[in-house]
Amino acid sequence: MLILDSVHTYYGHIHALKGISLTVNQGEIVTLIGSNGAGKTTTLNTISGVLPARAGAIYLQENARSQGPAPPGRDYGSDIRLDRLHAHQVARLGVSQSPEGRKIFARLSVQENLAMGAFARADADGIRQDLERVFQLFPRLQERLSQPGGTLSGGEQQMLAIGRALMSRPRILLLDEPSMGLAPILVQQIFQIIREINDQGMTILLVEQNAQAALHIANRGYVLETGNIVLSGNAQELLANPQVAEAYLGI
Ligand SMILES: Nc1ncnc2c1ncn2[C@@H]1O[C@H](COP(=O)(O)OP(=O)(O)O)[C@@H](O)[C@H]1O
Ligand SMILES: [Mg+2]
Repeated sequence: MLILDSVHTYYGHIHALKGISLTVNQGEIVTLIGSNGAGKTTTLNTISGVLPARAGAIYLQENARSQGPAPPGRDYGSDIRLDRLHAHQVARLGVSQSPEGRKIFARLSVQENLAMGAFARADADGIRQDLERVFQLFPRLQERLSQPGGTLSGGEQQMLAIGRALMSRPRILLLDEPSMGLAPILVQQIFQIIREINDQGMTILLVEQNAQAALHIANRGYVLETGNIVLSGNAQELLANPQVAEAYLGI
């Protein structure tokens, strides 16, 4: 559904992504793991059009339901080139990001924050359905509808950020460190909910420093080090890989 083909991203002269290639297939959870500063957020911001790719290409497959990913070197034909679009255009195509550090609107209520996620939609019935779905996933949010986002706990803010991202009814959800700063019990809960969202059919690209938890719910993973993908494979293989265990699992 999503293909990054040798993507390079810079901050001025700083070469942050040095040719990232990865794919996310329909229905998968793919995780991108790596230490602080590896380039995980930069990757998501390049996909979502917040940062420009200076070289390489990013494709969103139009008919992801019926097509598999094109094999390497094949012409991607009618696929949409995301790297030529603005962030708002990428969002309208169904790519929705839950940003690192939550970034909810602190002064807006829970309800208003969720409404912001659906701002580009006009299908009132669909929006109501999705709101119901968000409340099923996060009952806590329903209990706090009129509370200002900034007064929620860290875990609740994370739920709100994910809920807001879901309110655009995305085709693919980009999650940037959803477990960051949460107590262990909440970390477990968040990962469980991410899996539930995936079980309901959502395709997810999950960025995490918590490699252990991310690999446990993911189908496949990529390991990012200083702007390069150094390892990739199915999640079970990566969990069993001694290199990964030593560098990322604290084993
Ligand atoms: N706004 C910025 N200006 C300059 N360098 C940046 C900026 N944001 C990130 N970087 C650098 O790009 C690299 C990747 O950062 P980032 O994508 O945030 O890593 P991660 O999300 O994996 O922790 C780091 O070396 C970081 O210092
Ligand atoms: Mg980051």
